[in-house]
Parts: sequence; C-alpha cells; structure tokens
Amino acid sequence: MIDHSTIERIFDAAQITEVVQEFVSLKKRGVNYLGLCPFHNEKTPSFTVSPAKGIFKCFGCGKGGNSVNFIMEHEHLSYPEALKWLAKKYHIEFEEKEVTAEELQKQNERESLLVVTQYASKLFNENLFNGREGIALGLSYFRERGFRDAVLKKFEVGYSNEKRDDLTSRALDAGYKKDYLVQSGLTIDKETHLFDRFAGRIMFPIHSLSGQVLGFGGRIIKKDPHAAKYVNTPETEIYHKSRIVYGIFQARQAILHADRCYLVEGYTDVLSMHEAGIENVVASSGTALTQEQIRLIKRFTPNITMLYDGDYAGVKASLRGTDMVLEEGMNVRIVLLPDGEDPDSYSKKVSNEEYAKYLTDNETDFIKFKTSILLSEAKSDPVARANLVRDVVRSIAVIPDQISRTIYIKECSSQLSMPEEVILDEVMKLRKQPTFRERNSFPVQDSVVNTTLTKTGEKKKPFTAFYSEREILRLLVRYGSEIIDKITDRETGIETITTVADYIVTQITEDELGFEEPLFEMMFSEIKFHTEQGLLTNERQFINHQNPQVSSIAVDLLTEKYQLSNIWKEKGTWVETEEMKLKTVVTDTVLKFKSDKIKLMQKELQKAITEAAGDQDKMDQLMEKYRLMTVLQKQISSRLGDRIVL
Ligand code: CTP
Ligand code: MN
Repeated sequence: MIDHSTIERIFDAAQITEVVQEFVSLKKRGVNYLGLCPFHNEKTPSFTVSPAKGIFKCFGCGKGGNSVNFIMEHEHLSYPEALKWLAKKYHIEFEEKEVTAEELQKQNERESLLVVTQYASKLFNENLFNGREGIALGLSYFRERGFRDAVLKKFEVGYSNEKRDDLTSRALDAGYKKDYLVQSGLTIDKETHLFDRFAGRIMFPIHSLSGQVLGFGGRIIKKDPHAAKYVNTPETEIYHKSRIVYGIFQARQAILHADRCYLVEGYTDVLSMHEAGIENVVASSGTALTQEQIRLIKRFTPNITMLYDGDYAGVKASLRGTDMVLEEGMNVRIVLLPDGEDPDSYSKKVSNEEYAKYLTDNETDFIKFKTSILLSEAKSDPVARANLVRDVVRSIAVIPDQISRTIYIKECSSQLSMPEEVILDEVMKLRKQPTFRERNSFPVQDSVVNTTLTKTGEKKKPFTAFYSEREILRLLVRYGSEIIDKITDRETGIETITTVADYIVTQITEDELGFEEPLFEMMFSEIKFHTEQGLLTNERQFINHQNPQVSSIAVDLLTEKYQLSNIWKEKGTWVETEEMKLKTVVTDTVLKFKSDKIKLMQKELQKAITEAAGDQDKMDQLMEKYRLMTVLQKQISSRLGDRIVL
C-alpha cells in the first residue's frame, strides 16, 4: 500500500513532458509536443504529449495515459512499481506497508486466494528470471522459441521448479495457509503429503480484466509422452475458465483502439502475436467460446476475427460454435493461416509487417466463409446441399440485428444462387419456432466479468447500458464544467448557470438511476459529490486518479473519436463540432441513457411478471408498471426524433 499523499506528490512532480523525454525526443507543435511513438514502429510521428492535460497519446497505436501509465507501459512495470520508479527520479520519500500475516487472515477467502495466486505468480516469475533452474530450463525454452523478455514480462510468465513441493513449502514458510494453497489449485493434498500441481512447467498466469492473477496454465517443457502438455488451474472460487479469456488484461486497450479483437487458441499464440506487434488478441484456451467470454470481449468491441490453422481440421473447427458469437450480435470474421501454420509458427516465419498485412488481406466474413467452405464440400450432392442451406440459414437466423440479417441474406442468395425470398422465408420460419424464440429472444443476461469488476455473490446484471453509461462518463470527464445554460432572473439580475455536470447529475439523481459498471458508478459518485458542493470537476482529477483503471479509462474517454458527432455527419451537413452542439449532445445522451435503463427495468419486470404467474393482483400491478415504462420509452423516442444516437 502506498499512501495517498505520496501518490499525489509523485503526480505533482512527474511532469509528462519531462518523463516522456527521458525516452523519446519531442518537438513542440503548438500547445503540444510530438515525437516518434516508443510503443510501435513508425516513421512519421503520431505520438503526442499534452503538457496541459498531463497526458500522452499515440494516434498510431492508440496507447495513451498519464506519466505513471507511461512508465508502466514503457518499463513494463505495475502501477506501484511505476510510482516507485517516479518517486526515485524525483527524490520523493516512499513508504510502503507490507501485508502482515494477520491482515491476510482477515481478508475474505476470495481475496486470500488472490493473494496466494499473486504470490505464486511472483515466485514463478522469480524462478524464471533469477533462479538457476528456471533460467536453465524455462527461460532458455522461451528464448529458443523466440520470445523476448519484453513480452515474457508483460505476461508475467514464470517457471515452476521441478522439486515436487517447491512452491507449496515456500508458501507455507512465508505464512500462506495450506487451505488457500489447496483451494487455489496450486497445491494438491494427498493426505500424507502436499505437492505442487505445476512442478517442472513453464507458467502462464491468467489475469482478470484488472490484472489480478486468477489461475495458471502450465506447459511441460521436457519430452514426456505420459504427461499432459498443459495442466491448468481447476475451477476455483476465483478462476472460472468459462468467464475469462487469456490475454484480455494485456489486450484491453489495444482492442478498444483497434475496435477489433483477434481470437486464437493458445497461450503461446497470444504471446507470439504480441511479439509481432499485434496486441488486440485473446485466446479461448483451446475450446469454443462461451457466452460469458463473448460478452467480455463485446464490452470492448463488437468485431471479432478468429484465426485458424490452415489445415482441414482447423477449418472444420472454425465452423463449430461460432453461431454463439453471431447470436451475441458480434461481427465475426475468419482468417485462415497458410496450411499447417498456427498464429505462433506463422508469426515467426514472416516479418511483422507481412504478418499484419496477411491478417488484413485474408479476412473473410464468417457467414460468407462458412457458405463457401460448405459449398465446396457439398459440390453436387443434393442432400449435403440441403444441409448446407439449413446450416447457413441457422447462422443467419440467430443474428439479433435485422439489418445485418438482411445483408447476409442478400449475400448468401448470390453465393448459393438461390432467390433471396427463399432464404428469407427459411430464416423467418426458424425465428418463429417456439424453441428458437425461447433460446434467442430473452438471453440469460449473465454478468460479463463478475470475476473482476463486480463483487462475487452479487446479483448478476446485464450490461446492455454499457455504451450509454460510458458516453455519459465521457461527457462528464470531458466537458463537465462547460456551461450549457445561463438563465438571468429578470427582477434580481442574478444569473443561474448550468454546467454539463450539473445537468447530468441532476437528471440521473432525480430519476434515481445508477450505473451497472462499478467503475463508472464510482466515477459518477465522485463527480456528483463535487458538483453538489458547487465544485467544478476537471479532466486532471481523473487522468491522475489514484485508481489506475480510472485514469486509463479517463484518457480513453478524452482522446477517442467523438461518436455522437455521427449524428450530424449522417445528415450530410456535418459542419459543427461536438462542442458547438454540446447542449443537444448532452440532452440526447441523457435521453439515450434513460431509455437504456428503462429497457433494463422492463426486462426485470418481464421476469417478475413470469414469476408472479398465478397472483393476479401482483401481475396487474407489474403489467401497469411495464405499460407506464413503455409510455415513457415512447416519449423519449419522440424527443430523440429521428436522430441516431450511438
Ligand atoms: N490446452 C490445454 N490442455 C492441453 C492442451 C491444450 O488446456 N492438454 C489449451 C491451452 O490453453 C493451449 C491451447 O489449448 O494454449 C492450445 O493448445 P496447443 O495449440 O496444443 O498449445 P499452444 O498454447 O499453442 O502451445 P505450443 O505452441 O507450445 O504448442
Ligand atoms: Mn498451438
């Protein structure tokens, strides 16, 4: 733990230009500074530093943040480590509190497990980089496979020593409880003795969205036909295989910026892609994606590109389980790698540029891909062809968005040389089937990553309002203290000023609305607190927030392209900037936010109505509530008129 005031002093001292200039040469351009981005290869500078805002941002690769983030990224340090680094540079006294065994005991089980996995991860990492055995066996293995230290450190990979209880005994000595070691899956309890699950393997820690270590994948490095190639953490209190994808923590920013997520199979594939400079990538760990994993990715982008080995089995595999992704409303594309190559092997054969180019050049839309593969298989076999049509129709039918469905129907009609109406008819038939409707109209809305951003045990909530919540936060962080209204009292001459924050806070508080996303809720209540005291919020307060998740979101919010401006662009007369239209943008966004919230409440009501079956009074009551919300919803739509928001 680093105390608050120290953090503030570090932030005050660490001027962004000064920090960046240690590594990058900068030239002044107007109010900003410009240089070549240290995070990706570029010939023309797109790396911008804003001394006024205290942030850096690369418009080429998308990286951005405050000075602490810069050091974290550049030096591959964790948040506290980066703070330490800066404290040293600016000669700031630094006091740190060690977690005592007592404190450990007090924390609840989940937290204890996180502490244990964190400890193990550190130890494995130490073994790999500093242990004699780790260097000789683990590090040399990684190096032989062409992984550089930068990527190994980014993923915090490690090595578990061969001695069968190396980790277990060291952890026990350090005061960690046997129960937690066993519950975290690190230790196996064989009654007579305890031993390590992962002994003699290289270790891939699996991180939560916020970077906590939830579990591990351990790969064997010696040839042993009797041992499994990978051993993974079993299901535990903190690790649920189906809820997390490997690499999301390291990829989240890149996914947001690229607005695309690559999906590969294995741990090593993810590392290789990073090695090749492609960072928006996660791994399914060898199985088909689950709904929860898809939703986790969807929080960052609706676009997913799956990479497959070029062999026949790979092609077939790519067809399996993909309907689920379509069902979630994702745009799915496929890249087939050359025959016999996987993302790891191929990235090592070609240059980074060639690799990136291959990926963009060989992207095929999933349904088109599926149709053509099946088509080439079916040839002139009428039975196979009929099956193919059914298969493709099913894939189209699960797509929630009607416009996308229509486009696919058009495409497939020409691909299959079959009239559009026939395909449409089939799609509609399928969508009308009761079993299909049941499966697709009210999807079970699980929490996306309740392993990270929500506390466990809480009621699971859908995340459908995520984008409007995010947009509200963007307006607050970016324009919170801008004035959107000024009313002068004719008699007294007193001016009443309304800022963006005043307006939004009042609107949301009056209707007792909140945010699904805990991080947003936290930011909002901070803004609310300030605003209600008559204080103005400013960007810096969030950019330099002591919670690194908040600061990184703030920089994203402050530097991304304006989404709402599309409203006017689409009308063909887009001349105004967002600032000029601020009042409209703000009111529209609040309306959209409310509309999303109502939608969510209606979903809850629907559930309650079904549950209340039999109790007529209660049903009537709920139905009336539902009806009122529909009325509200209509009013909102008419106020929004024909403007398209988000
Ligand atoms: N996997 C697993 N258990 C196994 C084999 C595979 O859990 N016995 C999972 C791992 O998550 C692995 C992924 O499936 O990363 C893909 O498997 P594979 O391609 O065999 O492994 P790679 O990660 O690609 O490892 P390598 O490149 O070293 O072969
Ligand atoms: Mn592989």
